[in-house]
Amino acid sequence: MRVVEKVNDVRATVKEWKAKGLKVGFVPTMGYLHEGHESLIRKASEENDRVVVSIFVNPIQFGPKEDLSTYPRDLDRDSKVCEGAGADIIFHPENEEMYFEDFSTFVDMNGLTAGLCGKSRPTHFRGVCTVVTKLFNIVAPDRAYFGEKDAQQLAVIKRMVRDLNIDIEIIGCPIVREKDGLAKSSRNTYLSIEERNAATILNKALTLAKEKIQSGERNSKVIIKLIEEILNSEKLARVDYIEVVDSLSMEGVERIEKSVLVAIALFIGKTRLIDNFTYEL
Ligand code: PAF
Repeated sequence: MRVVEKVNDVRATVKEWKAKGLKVGFVPTMGYLHEGHESLIRKASEENDRVVVSIFVNPIQFGPKEDLSTYPRDLDRDSKVCEGAGADIIFHPENEEMYFEDFSTFVDMNGLTAGLCGKSRPTHFRGVCTVVTKLFNIVAPDRAYFGEKDAQQLAVIKRMVRDLNIDIEIIGCPIVREKDGLAKSSRNTYLSIEERNAATILNKALTLAKEKIQSGERNSKVIIKLIEEILNSEKLARVDYIEVVDSLSMEGVERIEKSVLVAIALFIGKTRLIDNFTYEL
């Protein structure tokens, strides 16, 4: 496995692979890889002949008061994870390689990006869509793999690929969880021991909400209230949002009559965590 920093190097390698008729899978990440990322790389490696993983903490998807400067980084550890999971190349560019000083072109999206995380992070998805488009143009894979923990991001990427006729298959992969149910996230490393214990409330609330829907509750307000009460019982937790939305349009629904996404964003201390489940009807 090689770590490559330059756009032209990745391009040249992928071109060689494609000339031999090999299929290329791609896993875009911001590094500090956990078992969730590992599962994406493994799946990419099972379904393709070659795998590229990008590790790039994309500055333009962070808001001014967010954690860009403290976002955890460890390339040595990440390299071992990538190699173990079957990656062939890590693309690890410097900021200057990705963004010219006078960089001025962005990929933006209406509608899907307005609610959920887009509400409290208004420039986030513009940053994600722009960097993912760039990475798709650089790597030119056949398939790209994204985690379902970032359910809105996955829906946004699928829509972007459809709208802009990008010829890459987008594959969503299930959330990987700790033993106590907390969804794996690079940001979990920010949590103190006390906060880490408190963070289990996220999955507890979602599990009870799912049971309530399974037992026949169809009123979204009842589900949201149930989740709110559970989350508010944890003194270290502060709710950012609790939403029940149509799983394709990401628009709020009053009644649960087709497939919905139940999604939460929650601050535990200063750390913002997200989690969700999709209920198929
Ligand atoms: O999900 C992430 O880690 C990032 O949003 C992504 C897709 C790598 C873009 O920077």
